[in-house]
Amino acid sequence: MNTTGNRIIMEETFPLESPSMSRRQLLNFLSGAVIATTASASVYTTAKFFVPPIEDGEDGSIVIAKDSLGNSIPASQILAESKGTRVLVAGLAGEPTYLTIVDNGKLDTIGIVNNCTHLGCTFPWNSHDNQFQCPCHGSRYAADGSVVRGSAPLPLKLVTVNVTEDIILISSWIDDDPRTGKKPWWI
Ligand code: FES
Repeated sequence: MNTTGNRIIMEETFPLESPSMSRRQLLNFLSGAVIATTASASVYTTAKFFVPPIEDGEDGSIVIAKDSLGNSIPASQILAESKGTRVLVAGLAGEPTYLTIVDNGKLDTIGIVNNCTHLGCTFPWNSHDNQFQCPCHGSRYAADGSVVRGSAPLPLKLVTVNVTEDIILISSWIDDDPRTGKKPWWI
């Protein structure tokens, strides 16, 4: 659902039989943004469609999580939702990024970038199946972003999430990929 004030999408339920719903919610998130399309109108490229994020750090590798209007999102606003809720925010380079509320009422320190590794579509979280499910060509990812079913050739890109004084900071994931134990493919 959308919250009032900041426009955040709480990704809790996306029935497979209603793919248009997920697209509509994604479009809500993308409202006001520049959406580049490829050959198919259902394909959303996800890179750099938000206003440039405020960058902290010398290399610009840390950003404050924002909504689709470019406003920073307080952690407390997201944490008012229930455990397991996925929240879509604008992260590094404006990429839509899923944050997850975990057991102890905190944000998971791992964020998942909403950019299918097949051809770059964005996708919803399906809480019934506990998967990210890409509507474009059927790729499915587990909750940790690992591939359950292709065409996706690679797991989803990860980012690091930290909260400082109610500010959500997103930075590049540079450690080994916890899903493979190897150097991340995006480095
Ligand atoms: S872009 Fe996601 S399956 Fe093709």
